[in-house]
Amino acid sequence: MIEILKNIPFFAQLSDEDLSSIMDHVQMNYFPEGHVVFNEGDAGDKMYVIKRGSVEVIHDNAILAELKDNDFFGEMALVSDEPRNAMVKTTAETEVLTIDKYDLAKLMASNENIASTVSYEMVERSKNH
Ligand code: CMP
Repeated sequence: MIEILKNIPFFAQLSDEDLSSIMDHVQMNYFPEGHVVFNEGDAGDKMYVIKRGSVEVIHDNAILAELKDNDFFGEMALVSDEPRNAMVKTTAETEVLTIDKYDLAKLMASNENIASTVSYEMVERSKNH
């Protein structure tokens, strides 16, 4: 698992110590094309990093973004403690890695790179919502 994580830029920013502290909780999930990962308004308890595949982010019937390999989503509900602000649906067979809320908070507290990567995307995404 650690080698898989090291090949994904999001996780590659982590120290070996941080990686080993989350490794046992990171899960891999596979979704077919057209699968709703979650709906807008759902409660959120994990963040997703795309290992391979693509998803659309949909809000008010508009596609806000298409995310692909190495992109992440689902961070906003965890950081803001609010419901999911958009629906996410796969547009191809998609493999994701998931991090739970507690681990994301821990990583953001211990690792400046992760904190700035996540905060930067949240600010950019909020501008386009
Ligand atoms: P969250 O609110 O947890 O669930 C919906 C997710 O869609 C959100 O986190 C972001 O990860 C993602 N998202 C929301 N708005 C945008 C946007 N404008 N561009 C890309 N991704 C977005």
